[in-house]
Amino acid sequence: MTRKLFVTTALPYANAAFHIGHMMEYIQADIWVRFQRMQADGGKQREVHFVCADDTHGTPIMIAAEKEGITPQEFVAKIAAGRQQYLDGFHIAFDNWYSTDSPENVELSQGIYRKLRDAGLIVTKTVDRFFDPVKGMFLADRNIKGECPKCGAKDQYGDNCEVCGAAYQPTELVNPFSVFTGSTPILKPSEQYFFALSDPRCYTFLKEWLNTPGRLQSEMVNKVSEWLGEAGEKLADWDISRDAPYFGIPIPDAPGKFFYVWLDAPVGYLASLKNYCSKNGMDFDALLNDPATEQVHFIGKDIVSFHLLFWPAMLNFAQHPIIDKLKVNVHGHLTVNNEKMSKSRGTGISPLRYLDLKMNPEWLRYYIAFKLNAKVEDLDFNGEDFVARVNSDLIGKYVNIASRCAGFIAKKFDGKLAATLSPQAQQWISRALTNDGAERQASIAHHFEHREFGKALREIMEIADITNQYVDENKPWILAKDDSKIAELHDVCTAALILFRQLTILLSPVLPQVAARVSEFLNDDSISWADTTGDAVYRTMLGRTIGAYSHLMTRVDAKMVDALFDRPAAPAIAAPAAAPAAALAPAAPAVRDPGVEELAPEIKIDDFTKVDLRIAKIVNCEHVDGSDKLLRLTLDVGEGRLRNVFSGIKSAYKPEELVGKLTVMVANLAPRKMKFGVSEGMVLCASGDDEKVNPGLYLLEPWPGAQPGMRIS
Ligand code: MSP
Ligand code: ZN
Repeated sequence: MTRKLFVTTALPYANAAFHIGHMMEYIQADIWVRFQRMQADGGKQREVHFVCADDTHGTPIMIAAEKEGITPQEFVAKIAAGRQQYLDGFHIAFDNWYSTDSPENVELSQGIYRKLRDAGLIVTKTVDRFFDPVKGMFLADRNIKGECPKCGAKDQYGDNCEVCGAAYQPTELVNPFSVFTGSTPILKPSEQYFFALSDPRCYTFLKEWLNTPGRLQSEMVNKVSEWLGEAGEKLADWDISRDAPYFGIPIPDAPGKFFYVWLDAPVGYLASLKNYCSKNGMDFDALLNDPATEQVHFIGKDIVSFHLLFWPAMLNFAQHPIIDKLKVNVHGHLTVNNEKMSKSRGTGISPLRYLDLKMNPEWLRYYIAFKLNAKVEDLDFNGEDFVARVNSDLIGKYVNIASRCAGFIAKKFDGKLAATLSPQAQQWISRALTNDGAERQASIAHHFEHREFGKALREIMEIADITNQYVDENKPWILAKDDSKIAELHDVCTAALILFRQLTILLSPVLPQVAARVSEFLNDDSISWADTTGDAVYRTMLGRTIGAYSHLMTRVDAKMVDALFDRPAAPAIAAPAAAPAAALAPAAPAVRDPGVEELAPEIKIDDFTKVDLRIAKIVNCEHVDGSDKLLRLTLDVGEGRLRNVFSGIKSAYKPEELVGKLTVMVANLAPRKMKFGVSEGMVLCASGDDEKVNPGLYLLEPWPGAQPGMRIS
């Protein structure tokens, strides 16, 4: 039976831009999906459908939209419009991106609710709800904060604890307060709808579901078992209703009541799949009813209760066909230099800034994959470790193989690989690709399948190590100098490139872009998992004419990583969601800071474009005899000649500090004859109006990645 996989990541709240933690989840799931897409069962390619959506409902979005004077739908649309650049940027290949605010989701959520009601699992109760007496409104869970009733952590929202992961009712918070007014909320009665989790049927089902071997990570089985209690006595009915005004889906036959966002959010997985099916002429119901279909969710550890208690129970009692093949993969959180990030604060790393700095997205994919395992463990992004890992593995081990061997094939053999291999070369290949007689590709596949990505990559790097050892021992660069060794050179480079191709195939779930480029370079349009086993390893390569090698990946420059951390990240919350307190403060009259010069008269863009600013490399810098102000700079502006520029910056810099740096120059300034020679341009410096208040001169330096000659506009 060919496996069919319906894979999702958690649906991100549509009140914020992505942060690096989201990217980690998507990268993890995307690697798994790409791996699955390369697999076949009984010769038939697996079918994989990978979808996500914005999680749109609830009070925070409603309030954020209200603040901006737009509808929640408009608000969500703005956030949604910003998603693609992140997904494209990090090569995350969702098949569909949808929204929980959609007709499919209304229909599916109400349908599930009706089935639960028919099963006798919906009950109503009049309960006391928190009410902000100052604002005069019922408070949603996320409008209330206090101390976690389970672990005592301070400053936790009213629905679940970010520290220990417990889910609870807002009324259980210790020392609660309204996030709007800071006042202590009062309790007011309101009729609410509950999913009757305390019904013994729920316990019986959940207990069995949890303990089915192979279904959940063992940490999760333990955690959820604790939540169930010995005989389900700890399972409380789950309040699934909210009072108007609420941005959400109406509860059928209950005027003024809406589904709590966490009721319809996971249904959004199905809504996105349904939407995808209808766009692609696929039968949604048939897919879900197909016994070959597995439903796999990737989520973070903070939303476990929703996915391992409520969601399976909902699906089960709504007779969702796939319940037996529901799998939830829980990951830990990404921390940055060991600092936790909260949902609202994000971290020191902004994904967009990473991309803006022209950092290679596949570096991050590799680094995250290398650190991932199947446990619910946090994963730390550490700048130095990142640089070292990427440079040593990807550049030093992997890319190095091709860059050391490909040139010889082009130069000496017209781009053609050897048609046969010596027994020694064959031995090395099998030594690299097997471990204790077993094909490494099988254990690598096993690791990918079980989300042990770190183990998979370690084993792949062992292949790279053996390949490099082979190249080192046979030294193609020496063989190339001796005409009598030409056949050996051909043999060694061919074998090394065969192994390089193997490495590429095995790495391709992690490095899809590099794999595509290698496939071009090797003139090989099928980078397929089937080629990692048996004879196929050689067959497709021997005698093949390959294309020209161009460098596949550059080293990470530690300066880039410094730049990544240099400034606070772009706000994790998109501007509309979080109006910073300062923006709400009354505007102060405009008073310039002391030492800050008054603005020059306004100009038009044409005035500006007359000035041709370029990136210049300071290739030399020296003192000027007889001048106590000037330094003589020799600048490379990518013109094939060097320029001589005098600059009055002697008081601020020593010549040796500047050599090798990039700066900004006015490149079309008329040359000026000075006492010491002709100055062919001007470099740019910042300085204050009043030397006493703002002393010093500061030469401009571009972000890493800029090249001499680039125009500044
Ligand atoms: N909207 C809910 C999920 C609904 S699913 C039906 C939500 N959204 S979220 O935007 O806050 O989080 C989305 C996902 O990102 C969650 O799986 C969450 O665990 C994950 N992450 C949030 N912070 C993270 C890290 N620091 N590291 C890794 N994943 C992180 O929860
Ligand atoms: Zn807690």
